[in-house]
Amino acid sequence: MKICCIGAGYVGGPTMAMIAFKAPDISVTVVDLNEKRIAAWNSETLPIYEPGLDEVVKTARGRNLFFSTDVKGAIAAADIIFVSVNTPTKTYGVGAGRAADLRYIESVARTIAEVATSPKIIVEKSTIPVRTATTIQEILAAHPRAAKCQVLSNPEFLAEGTAVADLTNPDRVLIGGERTPEGEAAIEALVAVYARWVPRERIITTNLWSSELSKLVANAFLAQRISSINAISALCEATEADVDEVANAIGKDSRIGPKFLKASVGFGGSCFQKDVLNLTYLCEHFGLPEVAAYWESVIKINDWQKRRFAANIVKALYNTVADKRIAVLGFAFKKDTNDTRETAAISVCRDLLTEQANVVVYDPKVPAHEIVADVLGKGAPANPRLTVAASALEACAGAHAIAIVTEWDEFKTLDYAAIFAGMPKPAFIFDGRNILNLAQLRAIGFRASGIGK
Ligand code: UDX
Ligand code: ADP
Repeated sequence: MKICCIGAGYVGGPTMAMIAFKAPDISVTVVDLNEKRIAAWNSETLPIYEPGLDEVVKTARGRNLFFSTDVKGAIAAADIIFVSVNTPTKTYGVGAGRAADLRYIESVARTIAEVATSPKIIVEKSTIPVRTATTIQEILAAHPRAAKCQVLSNPEFLAEGTAVADLTNPDRVLIGGERTPEGEAAIEALVAVYARWVPRERIITTNLWSSELSKLVANAFLAQRISSINAISALCEATEADVDEVANAIGKDSRIGPKFLKASVGFGGSCFQKDVLNLTYLCEHFGLPEVAAYWESVIKINDWQKRRFAANIVKALYNTVADKRIAVLGFAFKKDTNDTRETAAISVCRDLLTEQANVVVYDPKVPAHEIVADVLGKGAPANPRLTVAASALEACAGAHAIAIVTEWDEFKTLDYAAIFAGMPKPAFIFDGRNILNLAQLRAIGFRASGIGK
C-alpha cells in the first residue's frame, strides 16, 4: 500500500512519521510545495520541535518514509491521499476574520482531480468547516479524467508538544465516510491502517459530517474550559480565592474532570481561536446567531485575559513601565514546541511596548528573528525597545519584572535567588501559569503576583 500526505506541517509531518514507524510495509511519502520545509524534514534538524519526534523520523526515514516536493508524482502513485494543508482564518472578503480560508484545500482538490487516474481514498486531515467534503467531491466529479475517489474525514486530535505520545496512544481515532458500500470499504481501508497500533474499540466511525463537525466541537469545548477557568481566575484575584485550589476542587468531580483547567495568560496555538471563530461563522451561516454569540464569548474572554495579564504587570509596577526592563520568559504558545501561532506572548509584548517598556524576550526553541517578526509584524522596522536574549539569565539581568508566559520546564529550575540579586528592588515576577511555588519566590524576596496564586 502507498500513502501520500499533502502538507508537511505540524500535523502532516508527525502523523505520517508515526504511520510509517508503526507500519513498515506501507510506503509513506509526505509532499509539500515549500522546498525549505521538505529539505529540513530530510536533514538532521527537523523543521518542527516535538519531544521524541527525531527518533521516530530517523527510524522510518529512507526505509518507508519519504519527504519530497514532487506533489503530482506522489498523488499519482498513492492509494490513500491525506490532505494536511493549512486552513487559516480568512483575512479578506466575505467571512474575513472568522471563516476558514479554503484556498489551499481547493487547490489540492484540483491537483488531485488533474493527476488521479486510478481510484483513490482522499482523507481530510486538516481541520475544515463541516461539509467541506462536498467541495472536494464536486471538484473531482467535474473533472472529466479524474478517477472515482472516496472522500473520508479523519481529523487529527494531537496536541503540539505531546504529538508523539498522542499519536502513539490516542484517546480515539475518528473516521467519517459516506454510508454507502464504497464509502464503508474506504472507511475499512483506513481503519486497517490505524488498527496496526490503535485498539479497535478506540477507532470510531461516523458519517462524514459528524466527523468534520466533531473536530471543531472538540476544540471549541476545550477552549471553552480554559476561558471558563480564566474568567474565574479574575474573580479569584478579587476575592482571595485561589484559582488552583478551585480548579482542583471542581476537577475532582468526575462529571467535570481535572484536565484543561489550568488558568493561564490565555490560550494560543493554531487551532482554538481559528476553530471557534469558524464555528461561530458556521452557526451564523446556518441562521443561528444566538449559538454564534455563545461561542464567540469564549474568544472574547481569551482576548481579555491576555490584555489583563499585561495590565496587571503595569498596575503592579506603580502604573508605569516606561523605560523599565521587563523580561518575558517563553514565547511559544506552550512548552515543548517552537510554534508561535496565536501565542499570548505576542499580545503581552505588544501591550508592554505600547507602554514604552523595554521588553527582553527569551525562548529556548523560537529563533530571535521570528519573535521580532511576530511582535512587530513581518518586514516592519526594528523597535529598539524589543530585544531577544540568548538565555533566561541574560533576559532577567537588571529587569524590573519577569513575566513567565510559557511554562517551559527550564524556568522551574532557574536560580531565582541569584536572578533576584541582579534585579532592581522591588522586583516582581508574574507567572500566568503557576509554574513556581510562589511561597518560595516570596521567601527570596519577589513581589510575586500574576494570574492564580
Ligand atoms: C489543541 C487540541 O488540544 C488538539 O486536540 C487539537 O488537535 C489542536 O488544538 P494544541 O493547540 O496543540 O492542541 O495545544 P493544547 O495543549 O490544546 O493547548 C492550547 C492552548 O491552551 C495553549 O496555549 C495552552 O497553554 C493553553 N491551555 C491548555 C491553558 O491555558 N490551560 C489548560 O488547562 C490547557
Ligand atoms: P498544520 O499545523 O495544520 O500542519 P502548517 O501550516 O504547519 O499547518 O502546514 C501546512 C503545510 O501545507 C505547509 O507546509 C504548506 O506549505 C503546505 N501546503 C499548502 N498548500 C499546499 C499545496 N497545494 N500543495 C502542497 N503543500 C501545500
